Amino acid sequence: MIDSTKILQDFPLLQQAGPDGKRICYLDSGATSQKPQSVIDAVTNYYEQFNANVHRGIYPISERATKETESTRNKIRDFIHAAASSEIIFTRNATEAINLVARSWGEANLKAGDTVLLSEMEHHSNLVPWYMLAEKIGIKVEFIPVTDEFLLDMDAYHQLLKSRAPKLVSVTGMSNVLGTVPPIKEMVREAHAAGALFLMDGAQSVPHMSVDVQDLDVDFLAFSAHKMLGPTGLGFLYGKKALLNAMPPFLGGGDMIGKVHLGSFTCAELPNKFEAGTPSIAEEVSFGAAIDYLRLLGMDAVYEHERQLTAYAIEKLREIPGLKIFGPLEGARGSAVSFTLDYVHPHDVADILGSRGVCVRAGHHCAMPLHERFRVPATTRASLYIYNNEEDITRLCEALLYVYKLFG
Ligand SMILES: Cc1ncc(COP(=O)(O)O)c(C=O)c1O
Repeated sequence: MIDSTKILQDFPLLQQAGPDGKRICYLDSGATSQKPQSVIDAVTNYYEQFNANVHRGIYPISERATKETESTRNKIRDFIHAAASSEIIFTRNATEAINLVARSWGEANLKAGDTVLLSEMEHHSNLVPWYMLAEKIGIKVEFIPVTDEFLLDMDAYHQLLKSRAPKLVSVTGMSNVLGTVPPIKEMVREAHAAGALFLMDGAQSVPHMSVDVQDLDVDFLAFSAHKMLGPTGLGFLYGKKALLNAMPPFLGGGDMIGKVHLGSFTCAELPNKFEAGTPSIAEEVSFGAAIDYLRLLGMDAVYEHERQLTAYAIEKLREIPGLKIFGPLEGARGSAVSFTLDYVHPHDVADILGSRGVCVRAGHHCAMPLHERFRVPATTRASLYIYNNEEDITRLCEALLYVYKLFG
């Protein structure tokens, strides 16, 4: 079991008092997570002890920087159970990882008229790169509908696999708005049977549950460090080795080359082929500490803690007059809970909550088509993580009742 009160002590920012003088109540981990002291220390330690560029230097501090970034790569390999470290590509964020697949794999393997199948609940990061490819080379983009119960319509999925014969299915492992967790393993199996590859957008799932790429058999997985206790400016693409080996490079420059002559170049081996230029060294090094932290807790315990707290949050939120939750009330769901309050704009809700030290997000959460689907311009979202507890839910509900009285 996770002791969130003890965990809280490891997060310096969460010791701060909010505008109302109480401890800050952070419920926006879906946007970015807070960082434990060990991750902050790892950043400082790198700059104080072994700041040097990687891969090039043959002096001790450069060798140490290279060793520690590669050690993080190995930790990520184990964390998602990839077969090899070379299958882990460092990117800037999950968005860049998806763009890498669209631009590199997409342009090399898709032609006008080919279909890429997404879902209605995707983040813009898993929509726009494919729209750009549609504009550039004429692929078709189709969508798995979301039901009125906030689940992926699996019958429609089966139909679309048959009727459109997509070359790639690209779906989120957890909706950042609804909290819905689709049956990814089953979807991958069916996509493969229909001849399609599968990309999982793991930005919201890898931080919150155990994700095993070999068990799921996904072909690509994209996720970001900053949503799982790590620094900003670092993300990851996992890809099966054979696929990555066959793909052309995404960006060109130093570090991704084998040889360069006047007028020609050859590529480096994986993973460097996809890592042009000086990487985010401090971020890569310190992310190792984030993985250590999560592994010590255990991802099954992380998931269970959030499952229980989310169920508690939903129960308490439903007692608030005029509050409507957009997402499944139970079953396979994660810890993002979005809602509207009758007659109050979500921005006003978030603003008033903020003035009481409760940090939530309001808007379309980079999922405009999903909000259009449910005919709301915006929602307010509370998203939970390991450092949240029942006291946070009480604070949220008290602040929402205050909003209700103010506007009611
Ligand atoms: C489901 C989902 N996919 C992709 C992203 C993009 O992540 P990043 O901005 O770190 O690239 C997010 C960010 O909120 C997300 O929630």
